[in-house]
Amino acid sequence: MPHILVLPGDHIGPEVVHEALKLLPLITASTGVEFTLDHDLCGGASLDAHNDSVTEAVLKKCTEADAVFFGSAGGPEWGTRQPNPESGLLRIRAMMEIFANLRPCYFASEALVGRSPIKEEIVRGVDFMLIRENCGGAYFGKKIEQEDYGCDPWEYSRKEIERVARVAGALAMQTSPPTQVTSADKANVLASSRVWRRIVTEVFEREFPEVKLQHQLADSLAMMMITQPTRWNGIILTDNTFGDILSDEAGGLTGSLGLLPSASLAGPPGGKLGQNSVGGARGLYEPVHGSAPDISGKGLANPVAQVLSLAMMLRYSFNMHKEAEIVEKAVAKVLDTKEAGGLEIRTGDLGGKAGTKEMSEAIQSEVKRMLAL
Ligand code: NAD
Ligand code: IPM
Ligand code: MN
Repeated sequence: MPHILVLPGDHIGPEVVHEALKLLPLITASTGVEFTLDHDLCGGASLDAHNDSVTEAVLKKCTEADAVFFGSAGGPEWGTRQPNPESGLLRIRAMMEIFANLRPCYFASEALVGRSPIKEEIVRGVDFMLIRENCGGAYFGKKIEQEDYGCDPWEYSRKEIERVARVAGALAMQTSPPTQVTSADKANVLASSRVWRRIVTEVFEREFPEVKLQHQLADSLAMMMITQPTRWNGIILTDNTFGDILSDEAGGLTGSLGLLPSASLAGPPGGKLGQNSVGGARGLYEPVHGSAPDISGKGLANPVAQVLSLAMMLRYSFNMHKEAEIVEKAVAKVLDTKEAGGLEIRTGDLGGKAGTKEMSEAIQSEVKRMLAL
């Protein structure tokens, strides 16, 4: 029986998590697979209740769960003084050793291509999986924070680079022919990037010789992701900091951060490393977007990124590939134009008038229909 730890977090986190979870009973009705759910606190909610961004008890639960379903942490009321809400999420990533953060960028519905701020003919067909190293680099390591001095050492070891490169290689090999992998770094400036580039090259030459690997400097990639987005179709492999920035940029490509999901895994999908008790990958699932305090409490948040994160959880942690696809198809149907046979129900970030609930209920109805319930 798959066990899920639910950490809704702050602001729109609980709003969209609550809606996305309504899909699980439908999956149970169709498959007979019962999920057990445990809700707990992380981020600002945990700071308020326990004076810490995540408690030891919750960290322990994270390592015991088959999957963690996360909303978003943070908000202006808690500021940046340590521990801030976001530090809870970082501690969970480190504790679970979920070093590979998969952030796909594609149009959840073709009908949204015209809503991208980028010209349709340039952005149509964009479809890449950004793999962000999630447990190293400038985010972790021994920080120094003084009144007039701050330091975040940007370090990478062979082990950290090899394991995330292997996830990129394994994912590239899942299609025939294998998809291209673009590794993004700053090897012209950073020592950690030069080591990154050398070890990524070694891993691919030795273990994935069929995969075409190219290297691109992260700054020019940021530019060319806008001017030639489809050129990077396949996999983009990059470090923690570049991956954080480039994945929000990917949200700009598709027109809204409210559309992009993510999965953080402790090994290659389908592999032996980082397996959970039900034979899937141990993972944490969260949208790319944050807690959006500017729209929280109004029922306006787009639930799609959280719903698609649930689909990724079904696929990677529970090996429920068919059900994951059904959720993704239901989302596409709800977003599609009426002309294209869709329902055209969209939240404000997509130029529509629907609220979180209306959009989420439409997705549930479609999933029900597709599961023949
Ligand atoms: P944000 O992603 O929360 O919001 C950026 C913009 O996108 C805002 O205008 C917001 O309204 C919009 N937006 C985001 N998600 C949306 C959705 N589902 N539907 C509609 N519109 C949406 O980024 P921010 O404002 O820079 O950060 C707010 C807080 O969230 C900060 O405290 C930040 O640290 C935190 N944060 C947390 C996570 C996480 O927990 N995984 C991720 C990113 C940011
Ligand atoms: C993300 C967020 C987090 C990050 C913050 C909230 C710690 O921006 O998941 O992209 O920087 O990794
Ligand atoms: Mn981010």
